Amino acid sequence: MRFLTHSALETREFGIRLGERLAAGDVLCLSGELGSGKTTLTQGIAAGWGALDPVSSPTFVLVNEYARADGARLWHLDCYRLATGAQALALGLDDLIDAAQARPGGALVIEWPEHILEALPAERLTIRLQATEAESRLLTFEPRGARASALAQGLTA
Ligand SMILES: Nc1ncnc2c1ncn2[C@@H]1O[C@H](COP(=O)(O)OP(=O)(O)OP(=O)(O)O)[C@@H](O)[C@H]1O
Ligand SMILES: [Mg+2]
Repeated sequence: MRFLTHSALETREFGIRLGERLAAGDVLCLSGELGSGKTTLTQGIAAGWGALDPVSSPTFVLVNEYARADGARLWHLDCYRLATGAQALALGLDDLIDAAQARPGGALVIEWPEHILEALPAERLTIRLQATEAESRLLTFEPRGARASALAQGLTA
């Protein structure tokens, strides 16, 4: 399953559609090189999900928490500076995953998931972003588990 975008705006719009479909406990892993569009996609995801505040990407912040009017939470993790899954667990990744599952609408978006591979939940939707041209990005979906497959199929159908 793949999707090609032709501008940052299109990537954001795709993210909005994805964010609208998120359900409790969903984990999205965004994989791609620097500047491939992970944060741009996350901005759309958070907007579609209903975040009250826009997504920022401050350099030294590992976790950003976004709230929705109904009290739901979306967590955005940037794991660029982590080296192992153990570090993510020590910082409370499992607690975030539990919290996401426990509340309606709770979900996680993880940038640089390959840095913490051993700590990722078995069920997750990985989206690989690749720059194909200056303004084009190829998004490739790698779902693990039934829920992630359904999410990916709904988006690319
Ligand atoms: N089709 C596209 N989709 C997404 N971003 C695009 C696209 N075309 C151009 N861009 C530009 O590419 C850049 C993507 O930056 P972004 O911060 O989203 O990447 P990132 O993967 O989060 O990088 P980092 O690993 O440094 O956090 C932005 O400047 C954006 O405007
Ligand atoms: Mg980023």
